Amino acid sequence: MGSLQVINLLLVIVWARQDYVTTFLFQAVSLFTMLTEGEVIISKEGDEVSLPCNFILENFSKFHNPILWHKHQRGEVTRVNMGGNVLSPFRATKRLHLAFRESSPRYSLELSLSDISLQDSGNYSCVIRGPGNDVIGQVTHYIFVRAAVEKLFFMDYTKPGGQEVSSGGILTMTDGQPFQFACVSIGGYPPPDITIYADQDNITGLFTFERLTQLVGAKAMKLIVSEIVASNEMYTPSRADDGIRLKCHAEVVDAPLISCQATEAELGQRNAYIKCFIEAKPALKTIFWNLDAEGTSLIPGNIVNDMWTIVIVREKFLNPITDQDATHVDVHLYMRIVTEESFRDYVICAVNAIDASTQKVSLIQKAKKQETTIEVKRKQPVIRFVHRNNDSLDTQPLVEETKYSVTSSQSTGTASSWLVACVLLLTWLT
Ligand SMILES: *[C@@H]1O[C@H](CO)[C@@H](O)[C@H](O)[C@H]1NC(C)=O
Ligand SMILES: *[C@@H]1O[C@H](CO)[C@@H](O)[C@H](O)[C@H]1NC(C)=O
Ligand SMILES: *[C@@H]1O[C@H](CO)[C@@H](O)[C@H](O)[C@H]1NC(C)=O
Ligand SMILES: *[C@@H]1O[C@H](CO)[C@@H](O)[C@H](O)[C@H]1NC(C)=O
Repeated sequence: MGSLQVINLLLVIVWARQDYVTTFLFQAVSLFTMLTEGEVIISKEGDEVSLPCNFILENFSKFHNPILWHKHQRGEVTRVNMGGNVLSPFRATKRLHLAFRESSPRYSLELSLSDISLQDSGNYSCVIRGPGNDVIGQVTHYIFVRAAVEKLFFMDYTKPGGQEVSSGGILTMTDGQPFQFACVSIGGYPPPDITIYADQDNITGLFTFERLTQLVGAKAMKLIVSEIVASNEMYTPSRADDGIRLKCHAEVVDAPLISCQATEAELGQRNAYIKCFIEAKPALKTIFWNLDAEGTSLIPGNIVNDMWTIVIVREKFLNPITDQDATHVDVHLYMRIVTEESFRDYVICAVNAIDASTQKVSLIQKAKKQETTIEVKRKQPVIRFVHRNNDSLDTQPLVEETKYSVTSSQSTGTASSWLVACVLLLTWLT
C-alpha cells in the first residue's frame, strides 16, 4: 500500500541520513498512518455493515493507544466501545461487534453492525489516541439508513393556521392575489430531493427551502427524521393558471430496484425473451446479465451464446414530467432459440452511483400443448403500478400515481376575480 511505501522510503532515508531523519520521523510520523478512508454508506434496514479502521502504528500498545469508536448523531456523541467491549446502550442491541486484528505494525479495530435499523444512521468515527491522550489519528464513516418519505402534502397558509392539502385536493387561489403555500415532505433518509411542477413546468426555483432534522428517541439510538418545507410566499396566480396541476415530487436515492417475472417458453421457440423492469435514482450506469453458473456475462450490444439484451427507456410509462433520464427502463434478454439448457436462472445486475442490485429470473418450460398448437403465446410480465401515497415499503418496482381529480373553475361575484383551482398531484419515488 502507499503508506507502506512511504514508510519504506523513510527508512531508506533514515539509513542514509540517520542523525537528521530520526527527529523528522519522530515528529512528523511517530510512525502512524491511517490506512482507512472515510466512506459514505447508504444501506437499508436489515443490512450488515462493516466499518474498517486500519492503521499503522509503530510501538502500538493497547494501554497507551486506546482505539475508540464514537457514534455521532447531530452533535450527540456516544462512545461505542471500551477496548474490545461494546458499551451500553449499544450492547443491549447485540447488533454491534468489534474485531481487533494485529500484525505489527498494522492494527485494525473493525466495527460491524448487523441487522441495520433506522436508528443506526449517523457518523461513526474511530479515534486512536497516544500516551498523552492526544488524538494521533481518526477516520469517520457516514451511515445513512434509507427511509421512505412518510408524508408529502401541500400547505395552504392563507387558511387560518394553515391547512394541509393532500393529493387529489384543491388549492383555491384568487386571480392577482398573492397566495402563500408550501410543499412539505416528512421523512425520507437521506433527505429527498424535492421538485415542484405546475403542469409540465419545473417551478422549484420559485420556492424557498427550509430543511429540518428532528432526532426522535433515546440517546445514541435516535431516529433521524427529515422535514423539508418548500414555500412560496408570493405566488401570484393569473387567469391562465386556472386548472393547473401542482405537483410536488420527492425522491430518495437508492440502489436500482429491479423487478422481473419468470417467463414461460417452449422448447425450440425462437427469439424468446425474459423481461425485467428497472427503476433507478440516481440513473443507471451499467446493466449486464450473468447468463450461467460460470458467470458468463452479457452487456447490451453484445451477442453471447446466441443471447443478446436490449434496454428500452420506458418513456410511455414515465411520469411525463420527469422523463429526462433513463431511470425507468425495460430490459429484455433474448435467446435465438430455446433449448433444454435455456430453462434455468439468469441474473441481471444493475448499477447506479449508490449500489449494484441483482435479481434472479428464470425461464420456465411451458407445459406441453397439443401437437396442433402452432402459435405460442408468451405470458406478458405484469407491470405493477402502485399507488404510493401512503407507502412505507420500498420493494415495489414503480411508483406512480396516476389518478388525480379535475376541478372546474368558478367565477365569483365580480368579473375580475377568478377562482383558480389547482389540482394537486403528489407522487414520490423511494
Ligand atoms: C519503539 O520502541 C523502541 C524500543 O522500545 C524504541 O527504540 C523506538 O524509539 C520506539 N519508536 C517510536 C517511534 O516510538
Ligand atoms: C455527519 O457529519 C457531517 C459532516 O461533519 C455533518 O454534516 C452531519 O450532520 C453528520 N451527521 C450526523 C447524523 O451527525
Ligand atoms: C427544477 O428546477 C430546480 C431549480 O431551478 C433545479 O435545481 C432542478 O434540477 C430542476 N429539476 C428538474 C427535474 O428539472
Ligand atoms: C398508511 O397506511 C397505514 C397502513 O395501511 C395506515 O395505518 C395509516 O393510517 C396510513 N396513513 C395515512 C397517512 O394514510
